[in-house]
Amino acid sequence: MTELAIRRLTIVDLERLVALENCQPRPWSRRQLEAALNDADGCVLGAVLADRLVGHAVVARLPFEAELQAMLVEPAMRRRGLAAALLEATIEQCRRWGSERLLLEVRAGNAPAIALYRRAGFSEDGRRRGYYPPLEDMADANREDAVLMSRRP
Ligand SMILES: CC(C)(COP(=O)(O)OP(=O)(O)OC[C@H]1O[C@@H](n2cnc3c(N)ncnc32)[C@H](O)[C@@H]1OP(=O)(O)O)[C@@H](O)C(=O)NCCC(=O)NCCS
Repeated sequence: MTELAIRRLTIVDLERLVALENCQPRPWSRRQLEAALNDADGCVLGAVLADRLVGHAVVARLPFEAELQAMLVEPAMRRRGLAAALLEATIEQCRRWGSERLLLEVRAGNAPAIALYRRAGFSEDGRRRGYYPPLEDMADANREDAVLMSRRP
């Protein structure tokens, strides 16, 4: 595989980040992504392959902990270890911040993401019942639980 670079994204990367985020249902808006890139208390990491942005992770620094707020890999580039590499870099960033734990929330039905996080050493802390609206906007679809997970960086 062409050499992978994991690097911190800056405002210069906004257009590429918007394009990548738009490959999924319910993408973050341009405004949200711009705010994340400008947030001094956060970090947006990108996975870059042959100068193409193919994945990203958004992590926010909290007073004692850190929160993984988004993680995405382009569909055609999945199952090649890119999310695992992004997570490793995120954990390293949390160590530099001195965060006590790295927290995240994930849809209970998102088996790929839950498998990824378990494999990276996250364990389940609890659930928020009916936290997420249904993915398809169908009136009779059920809301989905959030699984709360964390690990020590
Ligand atoms: C979840 C996601 C980020 C994983 O990205 P990825 O680059 O494919 O993940 P990796 O290749 O690094 O996978 C690492 C490990 O995670 C687990 N995993 C990842 N995808 C999986 C899947 N579809 N099914 C089962 N396990 C999976 C496996 O243990 C995998 O190791 P392996 O390939 O050696 O078996 C990607 O599927 C994605 O972008 N999904 C949509 C957005 C999303 O759900 N983000 C998380 C929101 S909380």
